[in-house]
Amino acid sequence: MQLILFLFLSTLLFGNIADIPSDEVIKVKGKFAPNKKCIRCHLDIYIEFKHSKHRHSNILNNAAHKAMWDGNPLSKEQKYVCATCHAPAAEDIEGLINGTAVAQEGDKSIDDGVSCAMCHRIADIHPTEKGDKYIVSDKKRVYYGTRESKQRSDYHKIKTDNPIFKNGDVCLTCHTQHKKQKLLIQKKSGEKYCVFSPVDENITKISQNTKEENCITCHMPQVRGSLTDRFDTPTHAYHGFSALSKKIKDAKKYIDLNLTKHSDSFEIIIHNKITHDIILHPTRLFKLKIYLNDKVVKTVEFQKESQDRDAKPLAWLKDEIKYKNNILAKSKKSVKVDIVLKDEDKVRAVLGYHVMKPELAKKIGLKDKKSTEFKILIDERF
Ligand code: HEC
Ligand code: HEC
Ligand code: HEC
Ligand code: HEC
Ligand code: HEC
Repeated sequence: MQLILFLFLSTLLFGNIADIPSDEVIKVKGKFAPNKKCIRCHLDIYIEFKHSKHRHSNILNNAAHKAMWDGNPLSKEQKYVCATCHAPAAEDIEGLINGTAVAQEGDKSIDDGVSCAMCHRIADIHPTEKGDKYIVSDKKRVYYGTRESKQRSDYHKIKTDNPIFKNGDVCLTCHTQHKKQKLLIQKKSGEKYCVFSPVDENITKISQNTKEENCITCHMPQVRGSLTDRFDTPTHAYHGFSALSKKIKDAKKYIDLNLTKHSDSFEIIIHNKITHDIILHPTRLFKLKIYLNDKVVKTVEFQKESQDRDAKPLAWLKDEIKYKNNILAKSKKSVKVDIVLKDEDKVRAVLGYHVMKPELAKKIGLKDKKSTEFKILIDERF
C-alpha cells in the first residue's frame, strides 16, 4: 500500500516537474531549437519525422546526397551551397556556403536536417529570379501552425495567421529551386548540368496551391494519433513527408492506370491527376512495365531529361528545358502495344521508379541499394 502511495505521489511530482519547464529547458541556445526538444510533447510527429527525408537531407546523413555532392566541382572548394535547402538549420550556414566552415560529423544543427523549428519559423516566401527563398522569423520560440490553440504550450507560442502554412506555399521556399537555366552549374567545357533539383518554372503556376488541394493536403494528410502528448486529438498532420524515397501511400488516388482495347492493339493510359509533374527531380527514373499473361511485353522509361540523347548522364539540360519525356501535371500519357487481346488474356501494368538512375549511381559511385532498386508505385491488373 505504501509502495502504491509512493508511486502515486511520485508520478504526481514528476508529472509536475515535467509540466513546468525550468528556464534551462525552455532556453534555445543556438539559432534553432533542436529536434530533440520537441520529443517530450510531440512524440508521434517526431517519430514520423525521424524517418523522413527532411531529417536525412544532407552530407552528414544521406548517402545519395553525399555521393552527388562529392561529384560536384564545388565540393573541391568546399563551398557547400546545398546547405540553403539541405542543411537550413546549420549554425554557421554562411560559412558552409562560402567555404570558411566545414560540416563536422556530429554537428547537430546540420544533422537535424530540414528541422522542426526551422520549418515552423518560415515566415514568408520571397520570390526572386533565382528561385523562391524563405524568410525565417527571428523569434526562436514562436512557431507557425494552423490549429486554433486549445491549451497553451509552455515551451513555445503558436501563430496561426500565416497563410503559407495553410495553402502549402511554405513548401515552395525550397521546392522551386531555380527558375533560370543560367543558374545551372556550367563546366569549363561548356557542358551544363544540374544538381539543384530543378522544378519546372511552371511548378508555381501549375501547382497553384489552393486551400483544397496543395502540397500539405497530399503530403501531410491527417493520420491517427495525437498532435501532442499534452492532450488528445484524434489525428495529426503526417510528418513522414513521403513521396518516392519513402513511398507515398495511396498513390492510386492521384495516378490512374487504365486499359483500352482496340481491334489491332491495346493501350495503357497513365492519368496524372497531381498538380505537379510526376518526375520533379532529374535523378529519378520511372518505368511503365506492361505484362501480358505474366510476361513483360513492353517497358517504357520516363525521365526528367532533355530529349537531347547525346547529353551526358549529368548534363540534363542543354539549351532549352523541354521535358517531353515526363508525365506532366494534370495530363495523360498513352502507351500503345501492337498486340490483339483475346478475351482470356490478362494484362498487368506496373508504374514504378528508381529513386536514383542506376547509370547515375554508378557514375558517382553510390552503392546504396535503397536508392537504386526498382520500387513499384502502382500495380494494376485488368
Ligand atoms: C534551393 C534548394 C536546393 C538546393 C540549393 C539544393 N537542393 Fe537538392 N534538393 C532540393 C529539394 C527540394 C529536393 C527534393 C526534390 C525532390 O525530391 O523532387 C532535393 C533533392 C536532392 C537529391 C535527391 C535526394 C534523394 O534522396 O533522392 C539530391 C541527390 C540532391 N538534392 C543533391 C543536391 C546537391 C548535391 C546540392 C548542392 C550542390 C543541392 N542538392 C542543392 C533542394 C535543393
Ligand atoms: C512542453 C511541451 C511542448 C514542447 C517541448 C513542444 N511543444 Fe509544440 N505544442 C505543445 C502543445 C501543448 C501544443 C498544442 C497547443 C494548442 O493547440 O493549444 C503544441 C502545438 C505545436 C504546434 C501546432 C501549432 C498549430 O496550431 O498547428 C507546432 C507547430 C508545434 N507545437 C511545434 C513544436 C516544435 C517545433 C517543438 C520543438 C522545437 C515543440 N513544438 C515543442 C507543447 C509543446
Ligand atoms: C527548408 C527547405 C525545405 C522546405 C521548406 C520543404 N522541403 Fe521538402 N525537401 C527539402 C529537401 C532538401 C529534400 C530532399 C532531402 C534529400 O533527400 O536529400 C526534401 C524532400 C521532400 C520530400 C521527399 C521526396 C522524396 O525523395 O521522396 C517531400 C515529399 C517533400 N520534401 C515535401 C515537402 C512539403 C510538403 C513541404 C511543405 C510542408 C516541404 N517539403 C518543405 C527541403 C525542404
Ligand atoms: C518541412 C516543414 C515542416 C517540418 C520539418 C515540420 N513541420 Fe510540423 N507542420 C508543418 C506544416 C505545413 C503543418 C500544418 C499542417 C496542416 O495544417 O495540415 C505542420 C503541423 C504541425 C503540428 C500540428 C499538427 C496538426 O495536425 O495540426 C505540429 C504539432 C507540428 N507540426 C510539429 C512539428 C514537429 C515536432 C516537427 C519535427 C519533429 C515538425 N513539425 C516538422 C511543416 C513542418
Ligand atoms: C494531388 C496530390 C498532390 C499534390 C497537390 C502535391 N503532390 Fe507531390 N506528389 C504526389 C504523389 C502521388 C507523388 C508520387 C508520384 C510522383 O513522383 O509524382 C508526389 C511526388 C512528390 C515529390 C517527389 C518527386 C520526385 O521526382 O522527386 C516531391 C518532392 C513532391 N511531390 C513535392 C510536392 C510539393 C512541394 C507540392 C506542392 C507544390 C506537392 N508535391 C503537391 C501527390 C501530390
